[in-house]
Amino acid sequence: MVVSPVRDRVSLNSRNAKRREGLPWQVPYHLAIIMDGNGRWAQERGLPRLAGHRAGTENLRRILRACVDFGIKILTIYAFSTENWGRPEPEVRGLMSILERVIDRELADLDRNGVRIRHLGRLEGISPRLQQKIRYAIEKTAHNDRLILNVAFNYGGRAEILDAVRRIIREGIPAERVDEALFSRYLYTAGLPDPDLIVRTSGEVRISNFLLWQGAYAEYYATPTYWPDFDKEELRKAIEHYSRRERRFGRLRQ
Ligand code: FPP
Repeated sequence: MVVSPVRDRVSLNSRNAKRREGLPWQVPYHLAIIMDGNGRWAQERGLPRLAGHRAGTENLRRILRACVDFGIKILTIYAFSTENWGRPEPEVRGLMSILERVIDRELADLDRNGVRIRHLGRLEGISPRLQQKIRYAIEKTAHNDRLILNVAFNYGGRAEILDAVRRIIREGIPAERVDEALFSRYLYTAGLPDPDLIVRTSGEVRISNFLLWQGAYAEYYATPTYWPDFDKEELRKAIEHYSRRERRFGRLRQ
């Protein structure tokens, strides 16, 4: 999806960490989550994998609320990767219909609660009906600024970089003008700050083609908890862990 850097510039409050809900720590401004473990969560309960994705969707509602409570301003979720097309057809169809249902049933509530929805990924490949719903959700919530919810859907970090390179070439931008700041404006996340913290649930410690460019200086946190069980207390632990790290961005200690 093509996003305009100017239109999509965030108009949020101070980037500096907040002390909310009695938290004595730095809170990440931009949190990104690889919501992994839905399938194993379901299998361990003798349920079909899609039941795990549905439980994961329920959990997303809880975590969204927790993000607002903790003062996080941007939440990016990895909902469907470019590699996920390789899953069995019923699971792919199920994940598509979960996103459709989330838009149909939750959009009004998300809008009322000041959530702005953005899509990270390629719209091509997604059914025209779902594409239309995604576009509608983006437009309807474009004025909100309490929390930005980036839904990475049909997203791949390499695809994102390729899409940026292609647009830069197509627009005839001279090579010497291409620097990190310009390049960032051609990514799906144009206008947004990079993630401060990337959480992966379910015990896997891999980046899986997620935010390859934007995650260059992010802190990473992995937990064995499956996504449907990753609750507010688990999020609090991740934030606590983050706040103990010293982020030097390649420089020396001050
Ligand atoms: C990874 O678990 C999870 C996914 C591929 C999908 C994540 C989707 C949701 C949580 C639903 C919310 C979605 C939207 C569209 C808002 P897995 O299936 O790889 O689990 P496993 O590693 O245990 O098999």
